[in-house]
Amino acid sequence: MTAADVEILPYQQIGEAPAVRRVVERFYDLMESDPAYAELRALHAPDLGPMRQSLAGFLIGWLGGPRDWFDARPGKCMMSMHAQVPVNAATARQWREAMARALADTGVDAGLAARINEAFARMSEGMRRD
Ligand code: HEM
Repeated sequence: MTAADVEILPYQQIGEAPAVRRVVERFYDLMESDPAYAELRALHAPDLGPMRQSLAGFLIGWLGGPRDWFDARPGKCMMSMHAQVPVNAATARQWREAMARALADTGVDAGLAARINEAFARMSEGMRRD
């Protein structure tokens, strides 16, 4: 048996698709209800339903679970998908804060949440246009 045989994927650690969906629902619920994220909310379409589906699908594959989201979008990269979004310092921070809260509120293990938050910090800073 090698180390790879016993490795636990972040996808398993978080609690698979139902747990990922809980995080995503909380994230967009916060974006919709807390005025602290108003600027971020305004960048999105009125209906966040498609985003709830898409972000959940992305996260499921990104964390090591089924890759349906990636298979349906061959060659797409998250950074280029945001090339048309006018991300700035404030809205990038709002995205990270809402996600950090969603991970904490849904009871994701603190160590795993820290790793996820770190990765999103790099991604959201890379998306900035200001
Ligand atoms: C840092 C990690 C981020 C991830 C993982 C992420 C994920 C996603 C996903 C999966 C989509 C949907 C793409 C599609 O299905 O077409 C999307 C779209 C979008 N994202 Fe992000 N995003 C991130 C950061 C940000 C930031 C920092 C902002 C703004 C400050 C932002 C604003 C948007 C907007 C405006 C859309 C289009 C939404 C719409 O059409 O209603 N995202 N994002």
